[in-house]
Amino acid sequence: MADPRISIINERMKEIDSVIAVSSGKGGVGKSLIASTLALSLAKKGCAVGLFDLDFTSPSTHAILGIVDERPKENKGIVPPMVHGLKYMSITYYSHDLATPLRGADVSNALVELLSTTIWGKLNYLILDMPPGMGDATLDAVRFVNNIEFLIVTTSSKLAFETVKKLATLLRELRVPVLGVVENMKMNDSNAIQQETQKLGLKFLEEIPYDSEVEAAIGHSDKLLQTVVADRMNHLCSKILSI
Ligand SMILES: Nc1ncnc2c1ncn2[C@@H]1O[C@H](COP(=O)(O)OP(=O)(O)O)[C@@H](O)[C@H]1O
Ligand SMILES: [Mg+2]
Repeated sequence: MADPRISIINERMKEIDSVIAVSSGKGGVGKSLIASTLALSLAKKGCAVGLFDLDFTSPSTHAILGIVDERPKENKGIVPPMVHGLKYMSITYYSHDLATPLRGADVSNALVELLSTTIWGKLNYLILDMPPGMGDATLDAVRFVNNIEFLIVTTSSKLAFETVKKLATLLRELRVPVLGVVENMKMNDSNAIQQETQKLGLKFLEEIPYDSEVEAAIGHSDKLLQTVVADRMNHLCSKILSI
């Protein structure tokens, strides 16, 4: 029998105009920072935005945004709290600071459970902060969220980009739309990543320099919005809004 939660997820997702999964081949390339600042910027522009941290092994967006006391409420489902102008949901609400090692089937179960029980309501954008690579959470998100689109993050490193190629190939095979690629923590003038991105048939959306101010801004959404990263994300937002 089909899992009844799947049709519930579809009903919930119908209320959301656009679901953007911030993804990458490798970890540590800036997905969580980009997902958080993208969500903040879209909310600042007046959009109804949700941010959902789906990186069950290393959730980070709560730390980036400095979310401490806010908690979801139970009301025939889970109502995400409103934080810094956006609706926010993360596995950390249930795992607290404990390690939550999950095996494949448990990842799927937790993901389906959270997707089917979280009441986002009407949203213009739901931003998903994904774990790196093509693991269970990524495959399940593609399987269960039929209006999903990917925003791929890479650094300037060939090593990071090699894994982007794989991810792009998989998404093409699965016929999942890719908004484009963002090159993060850039410290050179090379346009190699831009060219490689175009060779893959993907849009090169934005380059974000390495910004030494970021670390001090972690945990303070107002400071984050003053960083070069936020400035670049603001630029990216305008592009996304015009798509
Ligand atoms: N453009 C940038 N400039 C400076 N530091 C950055 C930048 N992008 C990301 N970082 C930092 O790099 C680290 C990894 O970023 P994170 O968003 O956690 O990556 P991921 O989610 O891909 O694992 C974090 O400490 C983050 O603050
Ligand atoms: Mg992350």
